[in-house]
Order: sequence, then structure tokens, then C-alpha cells
Amino acid sequence: MTRHVVAKVEDLAEGRSKRVTIAGRAIALFNVKGAFFALADKCPHENGSLSCGRIIGLTEADEPGKYRLTRQGEFVKCPWHGWEFDIRTGQSWCDPTRTRTRTFPADVASGEEIAKGPYVAETFSVSIEEKYIVIDL
Ligand code: FES
Repeated sequence: MTRHVVAKVEDLAEGRSKRVTIAGRAIALFNVKGAFFALADKCPHENGSLSCGRIIGLTEADEPGKYRLTRQGEFVKCPWHGWEFDIRTGQSWCDPTRTRTRTFPADVASGEEIAKGPYVAETFSVSIEEKYIVIDL
């Protein structure tokens, strides 16, 4: 698995999504309440772009006519036909037992952590203050 730096943390505000490309593969990156998630930017129904989808919550109901909105910002609605996916797992809520979009681990790492390698040469003081979003693909 290779780590790919795809964006700075400040480039993706909470509740927003962004399309990134890694080795020709389109990835939909999401910021859900400060945690980052990556899905294939390809809806399993007919390939709609999930990074362009509306970010929504889950509507639950215990009985007809009485519903509540929960998990606000944790779902994306495909812009083409409205299928909904859990951003954390890729699970579809249209056919939850069979349909899921591919997920990828997404992490936040400091620039210093990313730059560190196994070899050490003569060093000079360098500080990296910004953080980057990293995807393992
Ligand atoms: S392409 Fe996504 S719901 Fe149809």
C-alpha cells in the first residue's frame, strides 16, 4: 500500500467533499466532523460522481409520520439518482445488503511524518507546520 498526499487539511472544510485523483483513479474525499474518509468517486449504480453529491444525514422513523434526522453530515446522496451512502463505510442505504462503494483508508499526517524516511544524512533544522491529508491506496 502506498501513501499519497492529496490535500492540506485546511483545503477541505468540515462538511465538504473534494475529488482527488491517485494514479488515474478518482477518489471522493470527505471531511465528516474533522475526520477524513475516502470513497471511490464512482457510484456503484451507474457511476455518478459521489464527490459532487449532497452531504446529508440519516432520516429514521419509529412509526409512520414521526421521523427524526440523525447523523447529520455522515451520508452522501449521489447526484444522479439519489442513492445514499454512508461516508464512513461506503454502505448504500438503497440496497444495504448488496450495494457498497469502495472505501479507502484516509488519515491525517504531519508533513514531518510524511517526509521521514529510513536513511539519515547530515541534517539542518527544518520545520513543517502545516498538516496534510494522506490516503493509503
Ligand atoms: S448513478 Fe448514483 S444513484 Fe444512479
